[in-house]
Amino acid sequence: MAEIRTVGVVGAGQMGSGIAHVSALAGFDVALYDVSLEQAKQGIAKIAANLDRQVAGEKITAADRDAALARLTAADGVGALADVDLLIEAATEKEEIKRRIFQQVCPILKPEAILATNTSSISITRLASSTGRAERFLGIHFMNPVPVMKLVELVRGIATDDGVFETSKAFVTKLGKTMTISEDFPGFIVNRILMPMINEAIYTLHEGVGSVESIDTSMKLGANHPMGPLTLADFIGLDTCLSIMQVLHDGLADSKYRPCPLLVKYVEAGWLGRKTGRGFYDYCGEMPVPTR
Ligand SMILES: NC(=O)c1ccc[n+]([C@@H]2O[C@H](COP(=O)([O-])OP(=O)(O)OC[C@H]3O[C@@H](n4cnc5c(N)ncnc54)[C@H](O)[C@@H]3O)[C@@H](O)[C@H]2O)c1
Repeated sequence: MAEIRTVGVVGAGQMGSGIAHVSALAGFDVALYDVSLEQAKQGIAKIAANLDRQVAGEKITAADRDAALARLTAADGVGALADVDLLIEAATEKEEIKRRIFQQVCPILKPEAILATNTSSISITRLASSTGRAERFLGIHFMNPVPVMKLVELVRGIATDDGVFETSKAFVTKLGKTMTISEDFPGFIVNRILMPMINEAIYTLHEGVGSVESIDTSMKLGANHPMGPLTLADFIGLDTCLSIMQVLHDGLADSKYRPCPLLVKYVEAGWLGRKTGRGFYDYCGEMPVPTR
């Protein structure tokens, strides 16, 4: 079985920086790439702050933090990804963007490199077909926030090689995560179940059945969820929620997956949740305030 030593992460947003964080902490050398060097550096600054928080909470030592930071580099252009053993794409949840990234990076990667996507819902087999090396491609789907959440879903495309799958399993195990294996269907397991529930919570708000607070409190105290569905939607990012619902709707061709018009409106307004400071809650002050 091939061994992974270096990891390239494309996309330094919430997920890409989380994946880079846990990979560096587990001993892998990591190059983090985004649309600009500035964005990649911002991702590393966010990782440094999160590592500090882990040191303060006594989850890791200061030496672990320093060693992880020393393994992280902000990539200045795709050329910095040429030598990676594993490339994990964690850019915006849009198929054209992901396809363009693979077209850009595939020609410069080593032939034996493994290619993975962190997509929440897009077909692994279809994305793999845009790489020219479908047998070395798979889905490695992390949960948000990556350093905290224990699960990783592994998704095999129709052409994924067994050895590639086994090497990827060993990588996930080394990160200290628990994995489940999902077939390549829209939303895989977690989002096939979770996202229709979030979408239904947004319909419940849209139809005036309850306020933001009532809906979140109902599910927290009535269903024992650690976080209400609207808080969770803001946390995931409303653009990501909408993209996943669109993939479920298109891929499963059932009207029960129709994205709620209110979700569409929030995304059109640029109210994407925590990452933009406003979604179903406003995050400008000390405490989140419902926006409806
Ligand atoms: N947010 C979640 O809860 C969650 C959970 C699991 C998986 N995912 C998946 O992870 C991926 C990223 O989601 P996120 O929440 O981190 O989004 P995000 O908006 O926080 O980050 C996306 C990043 O991708 C970068 N990007 C866009 N185009 C790029 C390009 N051409 N080259 C390099 N970088 C580019 C953006 O600049 C941004 O920094 C998506 O596929 C999403 O579905 C998200």
